[in-house]
Amino acid sequence: MAGKLRYSKINVRPRPDGFGAGVTGVTLSNMQPAETLADLRTALAEHGMLWFPDQPLSHGGFEALARQLGPLGVNPFVQALPDHPEIVEVRRDPDERAVVFGGGWHSDWSFLAEPPLATLLHAKVVPPSGGDTLFCDTRRAFEELSKPFRTMLANLRASHTAGGPYGSEGYFAKESGRSGMQIVTGPEADALQVHPVAPIHPSSLRRALFVSPGYTVAIEGWSKAESDALLQFLAAHMTNERFVYRHIWQPDMLVIWDNRLVLHCATGGYDGHLRMMHRIVLAGGRPS
Ligand code: SIN
Repeated sequence: MAGKLRYSKINVRPRPDGFGAGVTGVTLSNMQPAETLADLRTALAEHGMLWFPDQPLSHGGFEALARQLGPLGVNPFVQALPDHPEIVEVRRDPDERAVVFGGGWHSDWSFLAEPPLATLLHAKVVPPSGGDTLFCDTRRAFEELSKPFRTMLANLRASHTAGGPYGSEGYFAKESGRSGMQIVTGPEADALQVHPVAPIHPSSLRRALFVSPGYTVAIEGWSKAESDALLQFLAAHMTNERFVYRHIWQPDMLVIWDNRLVLHCATGGYDGHLRMMHRIVLAGGRPS
Protein backbone atom coordinates (compact mmCIF):
# COMPACT_ATOMS: atom_id res chain seq x y z
CA MET A 1 0.00 0.00 0.00
CA ALA A 2 2.84 2.40 0.88
CA GLY A 3 4.20 1.83 -2.62
CA LYS A 4 0.84 2.72 -4.15
CA LEU A 5 0.52 6.04 -2.35
CA ARG A 6 3.91 7.38 -3.44
CA TYR A 7 2.92 7.53 -7.11
CA SER A 8 0.19 9.68 -8.57
CA LYS A 9 -0.12 8.01 -11.99
CA ILE A 10 0.65 4.30 -11.54
CA ASN A 11 -0.04 1.53 -9.02
CA VAL A 12 3.21 0.07 -7.71
CA ARG A 13 3.17 -3.14 -5.66
CA PRO A 14 6.68 -3.90 -4.43
CA ARG A 15 7.80 -7.37 -3.39
CA PRO A 16 8.06 -7.74 0.40
CA ASP A 17 11.78 -6.87 0.50
CA GLY A 18 11.30 -3.90 -1.88
CA PHE A 19 13.36 -5.43 -4.69
CA GLY A 20 11.18 -5.59 -7.82
CA ALA A 21 7.61 -4.36 -8.13
CA GLY A 22 4.53 -5.10 -10.21
CA VAL A 23 3.03 -2.06 -11.89
CA THR A 24 -0.57 -1.62 -13.06
CA GLY A 25 -2.83 1.34 -13.81
CA VAL A 26 -1.05 2.33 -17.01
CA THR A 27 -1.56 1.35 -20.67
CA LEU A 28 1.92 1.25 -22.12
CA SER A 29 0.79 1.25 -25.77
CA ASN A 30 -0.42 4.88 -25.28
CA MET A 31 1.80 7.93 -25.26
CA GLN A 32 2.53 8.69 -21.61
CA PRO A 33 2.21 12.08 -19.91
CA ALA A 34 5.36 13.47 -18.27
CA GLU A 35 4.04 12.68 -14.74
CA THR A 36 3.62 8.98 -15.61
CA LEU A 37 7.12 8.80 -17.09
CA ALA A 38 8.46 10.47 -13.94
CA ASP A 39 6.63 7.91 -11.78
CA LEU A 40 8.04 5.05 -13.88
CA ARG A 41 11.60 6.36 -13.59
CA THR A 42 11.25 6.85 -9.83
CA ALA A 43 9.82 3.35 -9.35
CA LEU A 44 12.60 1.80 -11.45
CA ALA A 45 15.33 3.58 -9.48
CA GLU A 46 13.68 2.52 -6.23
CA HIS A 47 12.90 -1.14 -6.99
CA GLY A 48 15.53 -2.05 -9.62
CA MET A 49 13.11 -3.94 -11.84
CA LEU A 50 9.43 -3.52 -12.68
CA TRP A 51 6.97 -5.88 -14.34
CA PHE A 52 3.81 -4.85 -16.15
CA PRO A 53 1.28 -7.63 -16.83
CA ASP A 54 -1.09 -7.60 -19.83
CA GLN A 55 0.61 -4.99 -21.99
CA PRO A 56 0.25 -5.99 -25.67
CA LEU A 57 2.71 -3.91 -27.72
CA SER A 58 3.28 -3.75 -31.47
CA HIS A 59 6.89 -3.31 -32.67
CA GLY A 60 6.19 0.41 -33.18
CA GLY A 61 4.46 0.72 -29.81
CA PHE A 62 7.37 -0.97 -28.05
CA GLU A 63 9.88 1.39 -29.67
CA ALA A 64 7.72 4.43 -28.92
CA LEU A 65 7.49 3.43 -25.25
CA ALA A 66 11.26 2.94 -25.00
CA ARG A 67 11.97 6.29 -26.67
CA GLN A 68 9.75 8.05 -24.15
CA LEU A 69 11.84 6.59 -21.34
CA GLY A 70 15.17 7.68 -22.79
CA PRO A 71 17.47 7.57 -25.80
CA LEU A 72 17.96 4.05 -27.13
CA GLY A 73 21.23 2.17 -26.75
CA VAL A 74 23.13 -0.04 -29.18
CA ASN A 75 23.17 -3.85 -29.49
CA PRO A 76 26.57 -5.30 -30.37
CA PHE A 77 27.01 -8.96 -31.45
CA VAL A 78 23.31 -9.75 -31.92
CA GLN A 79 21.30 -9.13 -35.03
CA ALA A 80 18.17 -7.02 -34.57
CA LEU A 81 14.83 -7.46 -36.35
CA PRO A 82 15.30 -6.54 -40.05
CA ASP A 83 12.80 -3.66 -40.07
CA HIS A 84 13.31 -2.63 -36.45
CA PRO A 85 17.01 -2.17 -35.79
CA GLU A 86 16.39 -1.21 -32.15
CA ILE A 87 14.58 -4.47 -31.30
CA VAL A 88 16.45 -7.70 -30.66
CA GLU A 89 14.39 -10.87 -30.75
CA VAL A 90 15.53 -13.14 -27.91
CA ARG A 91 14.26 -16.38 -29.35
CA ARG A 92 14.78 -20.06 -28.74
CA ASP A 93 13.09 -22.52 -31.07
CA PRO A 94 11.46 -25.72 -29.81
CA ASP A 95 14.13 -27.99 -31.33
CA GLU A 96 17.07 -25.75 -30.39
CA ARG A 97 19.82 -27.15 -28.17
CA ALA A 98 22.16 -24.12 -28.17
CA VAL A 99 23.28 -22.33 -24.99
CA VAL A 100 20.45 -20.20 -23.56
CA PHE A 101 21.05 -16.56 -24.56
CA GLY A 102 21.76 -14.52 -21.43
CA GLY A 103 22.04 -17.72 -19.40
CA GLY A 104 24.76 -16.49 -17.02
CA TRP A 105 24.64 -13.65 -14.48
CA HIS A 106 25.38 -10.33 -16.20
CA SER A 107 24.51 -6.67 -16.55
CA ASP A 108 23.62 -5.96 -20.17
CA TRP A 109 26.58 -4.99 -22.37
CA SER A 110 28.69 -3.90 -19.36
CA PHE A 111 31.75 -4.32 -21.61
CA LEU A 112 30.81 -1.11 -23.47
CA ALA A 113 32.28 2.27 -22.50
CA GLU A 114 28.71 3.46 -21.87
CA PRO A 115 26.65 0.39 -20.95
CA PRO A 116 22.86 0.64 -21.27
CA LEU A 117 21.13 2.12 -18.26
CA ALA A 118 18.02 -0.01 -18.61
CA THR A 119 16.61 -2.93 -20.59
CA LEU A 120 13.01 -3.51 -21.66
CA LEU A 121 12.03 -7.14 -22.33
CA HIS A 122 8.58 -7.90 -23.70
CA ALA A 123 7.21 -11.44 -23.69
CA LYS A 124 5.72 -12.55 -27.02
CA VAL A 125 5.65 -16.34 -26.60
CA VAL A 126 6.14 -17.92 -23.18
CA PRO A 127 6.67 -21.67 -22.76
CA PRO A 128 4.23 -23.59 -20.52
CA SER A 129 6.95 -23.93 -17.88
CA GLY A 130 10.58 -22.85 -17.53
CA GLY A 131 12.18 -19.81 -19.14
CA ASP A 132 12.07 -17.73 -15.94
CA THR A 133 14.52 -14.85 -15.52
CA LEU A 134 16.51 -14.45 -12.29
CA PHE A 135 17.35 -11.00 -10.96
CA CYS A 136 19.68 -10.16 -8.10
CA ASP A 137 19.68 -6.96 -6.08
CA THR A 138 23.21 -5.58 -6.44
CA ARG A 139 22.47 -2.50 -4.31
CA ARG A 140 21.38 -4.43 -1.23
CA ALA A 141 24.20 -6.92 -1.84
CA PHE A 142 26.63 -3.97 -1.65
CA GLU A 143 24.95 -2.35 1.33
CA GLU A 144 25.02 -5.55 3.39
CA LEU A 145 28.80 -5.79 3.20
CA SER A 146 30.88 -4.42 6.09
CA LYS A 147 31.85 -0.75 6.00
CA PRO A 148 35.62 -1.33 5.58
CA PHE A 149 34.94 -3.78 2.74
CA ARG A 150 32.55 -1.30 1.07
CA THR A 151 35.17 1.43 1.38
CA MET A 152 37.71 -0.79 -0.34
CA LEU A 153 35.27 -1.73 -3.13
CA ALA A 154 34.33 1.93 -3.70
CA ASN A 155 37.96 2.60 -4.67
CA LEU A 156 38.37 -0.33 -7.08
CA ARG A 157 37.86 -0.61 -10.82
CA ALA A 158 37.42 -3.77 -12.87
CA SER A 159 37.75 -4.68 -16.51
CA HIS A 160 34.87 -6.06 -18.52
CA THR A 161 34.99 -7.88 -21.84
CA ALA A 162 32.57 -9.58 -24.21
CA GLY A 163 35.26 -12.13 -25.13
CA GLY A 164 33.87 -15.01 -23.01
CA PRO A 165 30.64 -15.29 -25.00
CA TYR A 166 31.27 -13.29 -28.21
CA GLY A 167 35.06 -13.52 -28.88
CA SER A 168 36.43 -15.71 -31.67
CA GLU A 169 37.27 -18.30 -28.98
CA GLY A 170 34.10 -17.55 -27.02
CA TYR A 171 31.37 -20.09 -26.36
CA PHE A 172 28.96 -18.72 -29.00
CA ALA A 173 31.73 -19.09 -31.65
CA LYS A 174 32.25 -22.74 -30.70
CA GLU A 175 28.67 -23.88 -30.49
CA SER A 176 26.48 -25.22 -33.24
CA GLY A 177 22.75 -25.79 -33.13
CA ARG A 178 21.58 -22.18 -32.74
CA SER A 179 18.55 -21.44 -34.86
CA GLY A 180 16.50 -18.75 -33.13
CA MET A 181 19.02 -15.87 -33.00
CA GLN A 182 21.88 -14.67 -35.13
CA ILE A 183 24.93 -13.94 -33.01
CA VAL A 184 27.99 -12.32 -34.51
CA THR A 185 31.30 -13.29 -32.90
CA GLY A 186 34.78 -11.90 -33.55
CA PRO A 187 38.08 -10.73 -32.09
CA GLU A 188 36.75 -7.19 -31.40
CA ALA A 189 34.75 -8.74 -28.54
CA ASP A 190 38.01 -9.24 -26.62
CA ALA A 191 38.47 -5.49 -26.01
CA LEU A 192 38.59 -4.46 -22.35
CA GLN A 193 36.61 -1.67 -20.75
CA VAL A 194 37.23 -0.52 -17.17
CA HIS A 195 34.40 0.51 -14.81
CA PRO A 196 34.12 1.16 -11.07
CA VAL A 197 33.35 -1.97 -9.02
CA ALA A 198 30.63 -0.13 -7.09
CA PRO A 199 29.55 2.98 -9.01
CA ILE A 200 27.12 5.55 -7.63
CA HIS A 201 23.66 5.32 -9.18
CA PRO A 202 22.85 8.53 -11.08
CA SER A 203 19.33 8.85 -9.57
CA SER A 204 19.53 7.50 -6.03
CA LEU A 205 23.21 8.43 -5.50
CA ARG A 206 23.63 5.08 -3.68
CA ARG A 207 26.29 2.57 -4.69
CA ALA A 208 25.59 -0.88 -6.12
CA LEU A 209 27.95 -3.65 -7.24
CA PHE A 210 28.72 -3.56 -10.97
CA VAL A 211 30.70 -6.74 -11.66
CA SER A 212 29.42 -10.00 -13.08
CA PRO A 213 30.63 -13.52 -13.86
CA GLY A 214 29.48 -12.97 -17.45
CA TYR A 215 31.66 -10.03 -18.39
CA THR A 216 34.03 -8.95 -15.56
CA VAL A 217 37.47 -10.50 -15.80
CA ALA A 218 39.92 -8.61 -13.57
CA ILE A 219 40.28 -6.10 -10.75
CA GLU A 220 42.52 -3.31 -11.95
CA GLY A 221 46.02 -3.47 -10.44
CA TRP A 222 45.47 -6.75 -8.57
CA SER A 223 47.21 -10.06 -9.27
CA LYS A 224 45.18 -12.73 -11.08
CA ALA A 225 44.87 -14.82 -7.91
CA GLU A 226 43.67 -11.84 -5.83
CA SER A 227 41.35 -10.66 -8.55
CA ASP A 228 39.81 -14.10 -9.20
CA ALA A 229 39.25 -14.58 -5.48
CA LEU A 230 37.48 -11.23 -5.05
CA LEU A 231 35.33 -11.63 -8.17
CA GLN A 232 34.34 -15.15 -7.12
CA PHE A 233 33.45 -13.91 -3.64
CA LEU A 234 31.34 -11.05 -5.04
CA ALA A 235 29.57 -13.32 -7.54
CA ALA A 236 28.66 -15.82 -4.81
CA HIS A 237 27.59 -13.01 -2.47
CA MET A 238 25.36 -11.17 -4.98
CA THR A 239 23.64 -14.34 -6.17
CA ASN A 240 22.94 -15.62 -2.65
CA GLU A 241 19.27 -16.54 -2.59
CA ARG A 242 18.39 -13.71 -0.19
CA PHE A 243 19.17 -11.18 -2.95
CA VAL A 244 17.58 -13.15 -5.83
CA TYR A 245 14.09 -12.87 -7.29
CA ARG A 246 12.86 -15.44 -9.85
CA HIS A 247 10.55 -13.79 -12.34
CA ILE A 248 7.91 -15.97 -14.02
CA TRP A 249 6.66 -14.59 -17.32
CA GLN A 250 3.23 -14.33 -18.90
CA PRO A 251 2.56 -13.46 -22.55
CA ASP A 252 2.38 -9.68 -23.14
CA MET A 253 4.23 -8.96 -19.91
CA LEU A 254 6.86 -6.24 -20.04
CA VAL A 255 9.79 -6.14 -17.63
CA ILE A 256 12.09 -3.15 -17.32
CA TRP A 257 15.28 -3.44 -15.29
CA ASP A 258 18.00 -1.00 -14.34
CA ASN A 259 21.36 -2.46 -15.34
CA ARG A 260 23.10 -0.45 -12.59
CA LEU A 261 20.94 -2.07 -9.89
CA VAL A 262 20.51 -5.68 -10.93
CA LEU A 263 22.30 -8.58 -12.53
CA HIS A 264 20.04 -10.96 -14.40
CA CYS A 265 20.26 -14.50 -15.75
CA ALA A 266 17.98 -16.30 -18.21
CA THR A 267 17.09 -19.90 -17.38
CA GLY A 268 16.22 -22.79 -19.67
CA GLY A 269 14.00 -25.75 -18.89
CA TYR A 270 11.60 -25.46 -21.83
CA ASP A 271 13.12 -27.70 -24.52
CA GLY A 272 10.44 -28.59 -27.08
CA HIS A 273 8.74 -25.19 -26.74
CA LEU A 274 9.23 -21.80 -28.37
CA ARG A 275 10.20 -18.85 -26.16
CA MET A 276 10.23 -15.44 -27.85
CA MET A 277 10.90 -12.06 -26.27
CA HIS A 278 11.60 -8.63 -27.73
CA ARG A 279 14.30 -6.51 -26.16
CA ILE A 280 15.30 -2.84 -26.35
CA VAL A 281 18.08 -1.21 -24.33
CA LEU A 282 18.16 2.41 -23.16
CA ALA A 283 21.43 4.32 -23.45
CA GLY A 284 23.43 5.06 -20.31
CA GLY A 285 26.46 7.14 -19.52
CA ARG A 286 29.78 5.93 -18.12
CA PRO A 287 29.29 4.40 -14.65
CA SER A 288 31.18 6.58 -12.14
C1 SIN B 1 18.76 -11.20 -21.47
O1 SIN B 1 19.82 -11.45 -20.92
O2 SIN B 1 18.49 -10.08 -21.85
C2 SIN B 1 17.76 -12.32 -21.69
C3 SIN B 1 16.90 -12.52 -20.51
C4 SIN B 1 15.87 -13.59 -20.75
O3 SIN B 1 15.69 -14.02 -21.90
O4 SIN B 1 15.21 -14.00 -19.80
